[in-house]
Amino acid sequence: MMKILTYDNDILKQRSEEVAEINTEVKSTVDEMFSTMYYSQNGIGLAAVQVGILKRIFVIDIPETGKYTFINPKIIDRSTETQVFEEGCLSLPGIASEVERSKSIKIEYLDVDGNQQKLEVDGFLATAIQHEYDHLEGILFVDRLSPEIRLEKLKEYKKLHIV
Ligand code: CO
Repeated sequence: MMKILTYDNDILKQRSEEVAEINTEVKSTVDEMFSTMYYSQNGIGLAAVQVGILKRIFVIDIPETGKYTFINPKIIDRSTETQVFEEGCLSLPGIASEVERSKSIKIEYLDVDGNQQKLEVDGFLATAIQHEYDHLEGILFVDRLSPEIRLEKLKEYKKLHIV
C-alpha cells in the first residue's frame, strides 16, 4: 500500500509534471493508486501527488458514474454556472466542507492505455474531477474556501491530528 501524504507535507503544494510516456511503471502506479484508494475509507479519488509522485495522474471511482484514470488531463471548458457539494480529501482526514465549483466541465486526457479521451460531465463527477485536477496544481479543497471558513477548518484539522 502507498502512504498517503497529509496536509503538513509541502509536496502537496507543488505542481505535478506531465507524464512523458505511459509505460509499465505508470500502469503499476495507477493500479497501486486504485488499491490505496479502495483501502482508504471513503476514498473516491486520488492524485499521484498524494502518494508523493509529482506526475499529472489521478484516479476516480464513484459507484454511480464509474471508474476513470486521468493522465495529463486538461480541463478545456468550465461552466460559469456553479454547484456546491460537500468535499473531503484523503490528505485532510477528518474534515469536510462545502465547496463551490463549476457545474459542468469538458476535459481531455489520456487513459491508462494511452488513448486520447474527451469527456463532458456535470454533477458530482464534475466536482470530483475538479478536486483532483486542483491537486495537480498544488491546490487543496481548503484553498477554495473563504478565508474565515478555511481557518476554521484548518483549526479543526489541527485539533484532530496534533497531540
Ligand atoms: Co483530495
